[in-house]
Amino acid sequence: MIEVLRTATQVRKHMRQLRARGQTVALVPTMGALHEGHLSLMREGRRRAESCAASIFVNPTQFGPSEDLSRYPRDEAGDLAKCESAGASFVWAPQEKEIYPDGAQTFVEVESLQRRWCGELRPGHFRGVATVVAKLFTVFAPDVAIFGEKDFQQLAVIRRMARDLLMPVEVVGMPIVREADGLAMSSRNVYLSPDERRRALGLSRALESAARLVAEGEVSGQRLIERARAELEMVEARVDYVAVVDPDSLEPLEVVDRPARMLIAAFIGKTRLIDNRLV
Ligand code: PAJ
Repeated sequence: MIEVLRTATQVRKHMRQLRARGQTVALVPTMGALHEGHLSLMREGRRRAESCAASIFVNPTQFGPSEDLSRYPRDEAGDLAKCESAGASFVWAPQEKEIYPDGAQTFVEVESLQRRWCGELRPGHFRGVATVVAKLFTVFAPDVAIFGEKDFQQLAVIRRMARDLLMPVEVVGMPIVREADGLAMSSRNVYLSPDERRRALGLSRALESAARLVAEGEVSGQRLIERARAELEMVEARVDYVAVVDPDSLEPLEVVDRPARMLIAAFIGKTRLIDNRLV
């Protein structure tokens, strides 16, 4: 069975041993409840480094007070088996009190990137993400860290943080893994009832529909947004935002005269889903 480490000291020791054998190491940070999306990152980790480590930690500081922290799905035994099958060589599943020592008051803020989109609707979310990822990078000191484009803004925030803090890690983004019908895989999909699961397809359909418009020559960001919103209305989604943005700055693009990203966040019932794609 794959090795599970519990303390930062154990991780540092393990990393020293791998380095002594001349190995490079990739890291895949997760909150567990693993699915094919997470596993694709671990496989990429194996391609990019000799060893791939994963972390499993449901990070409380990135959840808002009315969010799903207490009911976030947890399945450590299942997750460990999946990490092993994806080729990870060890896992860190830390304790909350070690990640956030008593009296902790140091946080990482990625100022303008964290403000928009999900940041506006989930105040403090990206501060929590950047802070925990900075801690993971500090403990592992990996050569490469792999993240999914599923959380497109998160990836941008982490890239910026690594650059700004001179962290010697290569941040790699990987494509979204989808179910056969197009729904982006997410640990939160388990919250969906059968009816909501069908309606959730509205997100990927909205993105596809916008991408089709672009292929037909549409360059107005606003018209793409209107098309996507119409699709979301058909499944009675409660839209947080639909945006067409520059893929690096995440600033809105009014004229789509170069590759852009459409970002969607919407509630299906009580479940908040996000998705995005190149348009
Ligand atoms: P979590 O939601 O568990 O996701 C862990 C990683 O898996 C993230 O990089 C995410 O983008 C990626 N991922 C999730 N679904 C995916 C999919 N369908 N296709 C490809 N990649 C996918 O994101 C987090 O955890 C946390 O914020 C974390 C970075 C671990 C910090 O707490």
